[in-house]
Amino acid sequence: MLRKRFSREVSELMKDFSSSIEADKEMLLDDIWGSQAHVIMLSKQGIIECKDAKNILKALETLREYCIQGRFELDPALEDVHMNLERFVVKEVGENVGGRMHTARSRNDQVVTDTRMKLRVHILGIEESLFDLEKTLIRIAEKSTEKIMPGYTHTQQAQPITLAYWATAYVSMLSRDAKRLKNSYISVNKSPLGACALAGTSFQTDRRFTAKLLGFDDTVEHALDAVSSRDFIVETLAALSILMSNLSRLSGELILYSTIEYGIVEPGEGYTTGSSIMPQKKNPDAAELVRGLTGHVYGALIQSLTILKSLPLGYNRDLQEDRVLLWNCLKRVNTALQVLAGMLSSSKFKEDRMLELAGRGFSTATELANYLTEEGMPFRKAHELTSRVVGELHRKGRDFRDFEHTMGVLEKHRIKVDGRVLKDILDPGRAVERSRSLGCTSPNEVKRLIKAFRRGMTESESDLRKRKNKLKKAREHTDKLIRELLG
Ligand code: ARG
Repeated sequence: MLRKRFSREVSELMKDFSSSIEADKEMLLDDIWGSQAHVIMLSKQGIIECKDAKNILKALETLREYCIQGRFELDPALEDVHMNLERFVVKEVGENVGGRMHTARSRNDQVVTDTRMKLRVHILGIEESLFDLEKTLIRIAEKSTEKIMPGYTHTQQAQPITLAYWATAYVSMLSRDAKRLKNSYISVNKSPLGACALAGTSFQTDRRFTAKLLGFDDTVEHALDAVSSRDFIVETLAALSILMSNLSRLSGELILYSTIEYGIVEPGEGYTTGSSIMPQKKNPDAAELVRGLTGHVYGALIQSLTILKSLPLGYNRDLQEDRVLLWNCLKRVNTALQVLAGMLSSSKFKEDRMLELAGRGFSTATELANYLTEEGMPFRKAHELTSRVVGELHRKGRDFRDFEHTMGVLEKHRIKVDGRVLKDILDPGRAVERSRSLGCTSPNEVKRLIKAFRRGMTESESDLRKRKNKLKKAREHTDKLIRELLG
């Protein structure tokens, strides 16, 4: 290791403790790409000779092939991915040539460059899975703009809604998550490479050139900030945490609705498990796991914030802890999105049961108060009267399904409503149809919302494709320059 200043070797315990190989494994190909771009730049700027650049690039290409074939083993004794890569190159082309690769860079800018490169690919993958989940919800919504279900506040029946309305509420939420993820992608995709240890370098480097070769949109210009900061990780984990909080709500509802008590949803068998002792069980494990994963992601967010708290400027070894939970979170959030989409599309929503539940109790009480208000009564008064009617029916163990009784109680309170009109007022389906404010639950409004969501998603998906393509093109361009240099 880099211990020339010291006479004693690093203790075995410390070697193991300080190795970042586990978290670095993921970034091997990024480290190679970054090194290729750096060497091409050094040669273009005349900082190293072209023939040396060629030899280093050849060695890096060999390493890349080994990695792709899974034939390269990282040596934990070498601390990190950067030292492993350099050791390989030096072994291939000798110290005199290989030792030039690290001119005008430091592991401090290298590690954060790799992290950003790996992270952006993960974000793109998550965005894609998120769109798939949104599309699954939209497909459910398209088939259910007329399917009545109870809407809740305080987990108590409130007003009737449709299944489409329920599903599109999540689309509406998730579309904000998609925006947050895209914004974190923008923060992530900036190049710190060439910042060197902390203060830039006296070599005439071209940082914009390497940034472009690596598919970055921009550079983090301030070198000290570039090596010190990890707020792009915090930002991503914050976006993921909010996403998970939304997914945990969706999961929680699926869990609740799949109980025998609700009986609204029957989850697809592929996403449930049985019990080792209770033969009747069909547990909504997929949703429970997603709900549980939320805690893990919040943990990673708090971890990343805590690592940065009060940390002085410049690289500090604390920063090595920044990726320990990160990769795991990214992979699992992506899987969670796919699992939820699979669970939802294989679930059966029980139309009859939903309608039956919506008809129970007093979910159209607000409709009755609204009717009285339209007939000229102040809303507060109408609210009070309706509430009395509801109270009386409830005390007698009745609800709006007992039409005759309801009529009787209304008459007692001197509320005159024609029977046909009352039927219409108390009918949950008609209540949904009558709603007409912006963003309400009526079938027509929900159809309009679905169209708008679809349109928004088409735009977002095309933007995602562009960003993905930019990375692909950047890789191809680097390959082309390598081929040209190697002749
Ligand atoms: N292994 C380190 C990390 O993961 C790389 C940077 C090391 N820099 C240093 N000055 N020790 O963060």
